[in-house]
Formats: sequence, C-alpha cells, structure tokens
Amino acid sequence: MGRLIIVSNRLPFSVDRDGEQVTIRQSSGGLVSAIKSYFESDQSANSAITEKAWMGVADFSSEDWDSEVAPRMAKYDFTSYPLFVDKAVYKDYYNGFANSVLWPLFHYFPSLVEYQTHYYEAFVQVNKAFADKLDEIVQPGDTVWIHDYQLMLLPEMLRAKQPDINIGFFLHIPFPSYEILRLMPAEWKNAILKGLMGADLIGFHTHDYVQHFMQSVKMLLGVDNYFYTMQYQDRLIKADLFPIGIDYKKFHNAAYDSEVLELRNDIKRNFENKKIIFSVDRLDYTKGLMDRLNGFEYFLQQNPEWMEKIVFVLNIVPSRDEIPAYLERKRNIEEKIGTLNGKFSSISWQPVIYRYNHLPFNELCALYQAADVALITPLRDGMNLVAKEYVASCTTQRGVLVLSELAGAASELNEALLVNPTDVVDVSNAIVKALNMPLHEQKNRMALMQKRLADYDVVKWVNDFLEQLVNIRKEQQKLA
Ligand code: UDP
Ligand code: G6P
Repeated sequence: MGRLIIVSNRLPFSVDRDGEQVTIRQSSGGLVSAIKSYFESDQSANSAITEKAWMGVADFSSEDWDSEVAPRMAKYDFTSYPLFVDKAVYKDYYNGFANSVLWPLFHYFPSLVEYQTHYYEAFVQVNKAFADKLDEIVQPGDTVWIHDYQLMLLPEMLRAKQPDINIGFFLHIPFPSYEILRLMPAEWKNAILKGLMGADLIGFHTHDYVQHFMQSVKMLLGVDNYFYTMQYQDRLIKADLFPIGIDYKKFHNAAYDSEVLELRNDIKRNFENKKIIFSVDRLDYTKGLMDRLNGFEYFLQQNPEWMEKIVFVLNIVPSRDEIPAYLERKRNIEEKIGTLNGKFSSISWQPVIYRYNHLPFNELCALYQAADVALITPLRDGMNLVAKEYVASCTTQRGVLVLSELAGAASELNEALLVNPTDVVDVSNAIVKALNMPLHEQKNRMALMQKRLADYDVVKWVNDFLEQLVNIRKEQQKLA
C-alpha cells in the first residue's frame, strides 16, 4: 500500500526542557496511545506499508530537534516530520480555535466557546502550514491519514495541492448534533465541513457521530448520502464508524511483567483491607471530575459503613493548563478534594488520594490491576480508552467498571455499570453495586467485554480503516 503518513497536531512524543535537562515522553491522550501502539505492533511491521511517517507540530525548538530529539528518535522505525509554528499563531490556533471553540462546542459545552475571529484565522494558517509541508513530502501512491479536530481544514487544502493521493480523516472526539454545530458562525462551520470533504474516507467512533455528520453535510452543503457515501464535487466520499481499539495484549500481558507486579503488590499492601476505586483522566472539564467527586461524597454520606474501608485514587494528567477554563477547574477540583478529605478523614485514613502528574506506563498498569472499581464518568467523551485499558488489564477478571453512558465506549461496553455522570445518586448506587458484586458476576461481565476488546484491537481498527480507504478509492476509479 506504499507509504503511510500519519498527521496530527501532536507528535507521539513531547519534549520537556528544564534548564539543560531535556526529557522526552509519550504525548498524552488516546490518539497518540492508539496510533503509537499500532506503529509498534508486529502487524504493522509485516503489513504492506512500505514506510511509516508521522507529522505534527513541534513542541521544541529546531535547535533542540537537531541536537537532542532527532538522534533519540532515530531508533524508531518511523520518520518524524516536526512542523515549526510561530508561538503566537500556535497559541491562537491551539488554545484558541481548537480548544476554546471546537473542543467545547463538539463536547456540548457551548457556553465555554469563545468566538474570536483571530482564533479562526490562526486555525486556517496552521492547517495551511501543514498542507504546505505535506505537499513537499508526499509522493504519488502515498496514504495520508489526518487525525482529529485540530486539522479539520487540512483534507481539502491538501486535496487542492495533491488531487490524486489517498486521504483519510479520523475524528477522535464526538461529532455533535446539527443543532450544536449550527451555533457556529456560517463561514466557520461551512469551511469545516468542506475541509473534511477533501478526504476520501471520514471515520468516527460511533454510529451517532456518523449520523450527526451526515445530517450536517445535508443541511449545510446540500449533499445527500446513500448508504454512508456522498457524491461531492464529482468525487465519491465515504463516512463510516470505526470504534477505536486498544493494544489489548500490551495491557493484558503487563500483568505478567515483574516490575508491574511489584508495583501492584506495593499498592495493594499500602491499602491493605481496603477497596480501591481508581480513575485517571487528563485535566479536562469534559471528564466530569467535579461530578465524580460529588458522587463519591454522596456515596460516603449515604454509606458510612465504608468509612476507612475504601480509598479513591484519583489521578489527573496535566493538560491544556494555559486555558482559563482548564486552570479554573483545576483549582475547583483541588478545593473540593481538600474539603472532602477534611470532612471525612480520620487520623489514620483519608478517602481521596490525589495526584496531578503523568503516569509512567508500568505504574498505570499496576493501578489498573490493583483497582477493585474503575470510576470513569466523563460528561462527554469521543470514546475513552482508559475504560478499555482497565478492562484489558483485569487479567483475573476481578474488578468492576463504572462507566458514563455519555462516553463513546459505552456503546461497546454494555456489561459495565452505566451511569449518568451528573446524577450523584446514580453514581453512588453504582459504586455500592460494584463493591458488592459477587465474583462470578464480575468475571462474567469482564469476560464478555474482554473478548470484544481482544477481537477488535487497535491493529484491526487501523486495518479496517485502511482497507475501506482502498475500497472507496476503487469505487471512485470505477466511476471515473
Ligand atoms: N495516559 C497517558 N498519560 C498518563 C495516563 C494515561 O497518556 O499519564 C493515556 C491512557 O493510557 C490512555 C490515554 O492517555 O490511552 C487517554 O485516552 P482517553 O481516550 O481515555 O482520553 P483522552 O485523553 O484522549 O481524552
Ligand atoms: C484528546 C484529543 C487529541 C489530543 C489529546 C491530548 O485525545 O482527541 O487530539 O491530542 O486529547 O490533548 P492535547 O491538547 O494535549 O494534545
């Protein structure tokens, strides 16, 4: 199939510089976890892909790239193409249009949207910079797979420069209903839809998101669809659902890794005779952290017999903390944790153990394995890979997933205890049910979810998408 070029706002690695010290770590978030796992899998090495590449904005200087980063990235079997963007433009594009317009609107938080023209201008500028750089790199036969909301204008811009290459697009966040999208100024929403229609195949996580997208295309561009295909400007375009998977084996096999096992045992020892509730999310208002804490507080109030017998290990991964809507919530969450611990702690116990940090992979796996209950309650989430990773990590099939019905993952993980994240009574009842669930029921539920996740893992997800991209290209050629 030739070269595969992944394009996303973020490269798979992020660089932290502290004086002379340069540290490279995996970038946070589900998009990077998924594609990076695919790149590292044996299947990708043995596929028909002749060369793998990844383009994204550099969060480091070009000097650091030359001296520190490029030499350390040389060991990977994919080429990295960092794009260097002017800092002020990047800020308006990333903090501005991407994360203060598109992110809140597409996650149904219209009151948080900041409609600023200069944000949109920067968004156009950065998408154009990607198109220009790609134009220098791509060759006939290449497949360019563009990811996520930060680059929704790029498919059309690239198509104009390179009409014959294969272009796929995948949206990792929800596509909202037309009633939400229409809140955007006409110029912006039309540009976004036209931008996406530059791709040959447009993928979403769930059936609802595909339907919302196709309805918006119909209402705003007047283009109808027939079995998920659309005829637009003499081209056939397909939209479809591809629920993203995880590297199931990586999480499942981590249970047999000696370091992970040791960490897991340390955690268990530390909280001996206590049940562990666990969650990990990026700092984000969509993740429902405040509602989750309210639900946990209600649970403690209603179930005092659990005092001293339970801990809630709450991990927040730093994210987008230059944006006021994020920073403000961080303060509120930390205040809430302080109040909650102040109210319920005893001299020898505190109910919430809170950390604000990136978690190394082994520690994340150890926590997944040690947890009796995972409490994953986003207010909206495109998919939520943490929920899937938790299920894959429960090798003993002991453990209960409490999951928001508003996460994309809920449509696949029906055996989880599904809750409305804003309903404290519902959340509290689900915690009680999870803590009292008989072992055989835990096992039955886990086994069903695990089978599904093992069957449709991240490799299947990528293969499925790329196969359909080839198919739609063939369909186009038949009609040409
Ligand atoms: N994760 C991470 N750093 C951490 C903890 C977790 O990158 O310190 C990973 C986690 O393993 C998961 C991803 O971040 O793969 C989060 O994906 P999810 O879909 O749950 O949410 P997103 O952050 O993409 O909104
Ligand atoms: C979500 C988005 C990704 C994004 C990630 C981390 O998963 O869908 O596009 O990369 O969050 O957010 P950040 O702003 O740090 O890239």
